Amino acid sequence: MEMALHRAFIFLGPPGAGKGTQSMRFAERRAVPHLSTGDMLRDAVSRGTELGRLAKPIMERGDLVPDEVVVKMIEERLDGSDCAAGVVFDGFPRTLPQAVQLGRVLEEKGFGKPVVVDLEVGPEVLMRRLTGRRTCSVCGEIYNVYDAPPRVPDVCDRDGGKLVQRADDRPEVVQERLAAYEHQTRPLTEYYRRLGVLLTVDASSGVEEVRRALDDTLERAEGRDGRL
Ligand code: AP5
Repeated sequence: MEMALHRAFIFLGPPGAGKGTQSMRFAERRAVPHLSTGDMLRDAVSRGTELGRLAKPIMERGDLVPDEVVVKMIEERLDGSDCAAGVVFDGFPRTLPQAVQLGRVLEEKGFGKPVVVDLEVGPEVLMRRLTGRRTCSVCGEIYNVYDAPPRVPDVCDRDGGKLVQRADDRPEVVQERLAAYEHQTRPLTEYYRRLGVLLTVDASSGVEEVRRALDDTLERAEGRDGRL
C-alpha cells in the first residue's frame, strides 16, 4: 500500500491513552515496525546495559530520559533495514527538541512528513487504565484487569506468558508521569498542528471503538489528497 511507504506515524497522548494498544495493532496492520521508546528503555533496564542503568532511576521517578539518549537510540534503530518502508512511533517524540531532531532524521532518511495521531482521553479514565494495566512478559501484549482482562488471570492469551505490572504504574509515579506529559509533551500537539500533520482521535471509548475511529480518521485524511 503506497501510504505505508517511507511514512512515519507518530502516536501522541498522555500515559494510559492507549498509544501502545493502538499503535501495536496499527503497525501489524501496516506491516511496519512498532518502535516504542518505553519498551526499548525497559528492555535496556531488564538487561542491565549502560543505557538501562542510566534510565532506571529516571523511569522509576516518572521523569523523562534525556533527549540526546533517546534520539540516539531511535536514530540507531532507524538504520535497520526493516524500517525502510515506514515505522510507527509509540511514545516518541516526547519533547520539542526530540520532535525537531526526529524531523531532521526523517528528512535525512528520505521519509515524507510524519502523520501524527493524538489520542485524546480525559484525566479521569487514565488512572484506572494505568493501575489496571498488565503486560505479557514474553510478547508485550497489553491487558487491563478492569476493561480488557486475559481469559485466565495473569496469563497471556497469545503465548501463555506471565502477565506483570509495570513498576511505574504505582499511583504516585503515575502522577509524576502525567505532570511530565503536561509540561513537556502536550506542547507537541500545537507544534504538529502548525506543521499541518496532526490528526485527533477521541480515545475515551473501548479499544475496538477507538481502533475504528483511528482507521476512519486516517481514511478521511487519506481522502483529502489521495495518499495523506
Ligand atoms: P512509555 O512506556 O512510553 O509510557 P507512557 O507514555 O507513560 O504511556 P503508557 O505506556 O503508560 O500508556 P499508553 O498510552 O501506551 O497506554 P496502553 O496502550 O499501555 O514510557 C515510560 C517511561 O519511559 C517514561 O515515563 C520515561 O521515563 C521513559 N521514556 C519513554 N519514551 C521516552 C522519550 N521519548 N523521552 C524520554 N523518556 C522516555 O494502555 C494503558 C492501559 O489502558 C492498558 O491496560 C490497556 O489495556 C488499557 N486501554 C487502552 N486502550 C483502552 C481503551 N480504549 N479502553 C479501555 N482500556 C484501554
